[in-house]
Amino acid sequence: MVRYVISVNETDRRVYPEEIGATIIGFLKSAAERNLTVPVTKAVMSVPAEFDDLQRNYTIKAGNLAGLEIYRVINEPTAAALAYGLHTKPNLQNVLVVDLGGGTLDVSLLRVQGGMFLTQGIAGNNRLGGQDFNLRLYNYLKERIERRVHQVISDREDLQTLRLAVEEVKLNLTKSHTAFLHIHLHSLGKNSEITEPISRSKFEEINKDLFMKVLEPIQTVLQATHSVKEDVDEVVLVGGSTRIPKVRELIREFFMKEPNTHIDPELAVAVGVSVQAGILGGMWPLTVSAVELPIRVKKIHVQ
Ligand SMILES: *[C@@H]1O[C@H](CO)[C@@H](O)[C@H](O)[C@H]1NC(C)=O
Ligand SMILES: *[C@@H]1O[C@H](CO)[C@@H](O)[C@H](O)[C@H]1NC(C)=O
Ligand SMILES: *[C@@H]1O[C@H](CO)[C@@H](O)[C@H](O)[C@H]1NC(C)=O
Ligand SMILES: *[C@@H]1O[C@H](CO)[C@@H](O)[C@H](O)[C@H]1NC(C)=O
Repeated sequence: MVRYVISVNETDRRVYPEEIGATIIGFLKSAAERNLTVPVTKAVMSVPAEFDDLQRNYTIKAGNLAGLEIYRVINEPTAAALAYGLHTKPNLQNVLVVDLGGGTLDVSLLRVQGGMFLTQGIAGNNRLGGQDFNLRLYNYLKERIERRVHQVISDREDLQTLRLAVEEVKLNLTKSHTAFLHIHLHSLGKNSEITEPISRSKFEEINKDLFMKVLEPIQTVLQATHSVKEDVDEVVLVGGSTRIPKVRELIREFFMKEPNTHIDPELAVAVGVSVQAGILGGMWPLTVSAVELPIRVKKIHVQ
């Protein structure tokens, strides 16, 4: 399959993706063993819903290379729904999972029936996420600073300082209505100390068109599955960028219901995978089980 060639001490060595995967999985396995103080030999893994059989097989292979027996591979959106216990909710049929991370947006519509999950449709935008919101904020702040100090910032180190500070400003604007960029840019000489306030509403304004794009794959997946938004019983938010208040607000207003958010959106998938492992291991206190039916749909790309 695909392989990479890396050079170690001028000796070329072929490395297969599953070997790199195995290294990462092995690291996590050791961390879990240290924490649990018992050997970990079996695992349940999650993969993006769009993964085909071959990609799933290679994921299993990576797990095996790391010394794990892979009990099951489940889809990330299914895992998120499991984390919220939606498989136990009576009269629930359709769950929409919105996953907005650093660089991609994925929307999946799941049907839940008698403890079974079926993915009905997937749509997404592989070019939308946290890094795009950062870039807008970075350009805006850079321009403001440059206008104020009448100088262009081109020093690499200073640009990196700004880039890191922008991420912090973005995170703060999730909790506060105002954040303060406070940095030292050494290339600016006597103007090196910069303090710049930024409001949440300004952040929302400069990203308005990008935030609106979050709704596009949602509409696409509803159309593709011949559903209307009223058919969606529960909405689950996954991925760090779904913490952004405006993103939540747009989704809430679109569905006219409160999305599920109480689990850390960056941990929801991992929590769901452990729920699945607990069910399979027979350790789950509830008498419910949940299985996932094989996926037959293809992701629709929205730009
Ligand atoms: C590369 O070579 C140096 C010096 O011979 C050695 O100390 C080091 O361990 C080697 N690194 C790897 C990854 O093999
Ligand atoms: C294991 O992880 C939990 C949760 O993060 C933590 O509270 C606990 O202290 C860890 N235990 C050990 C032995 O590292
Ligand atoms: C994946 O693995 C299963 C079980 O080993 C096998 O039946 C299937 O043909 C494999 N699929 C692909 C696409 O390699
Ligand atoms: C973010 O919030 C923390 C805690 O309130 C504060 O110490 C920090 O200065 C803030 N940073 C920015 C860039 O607003």
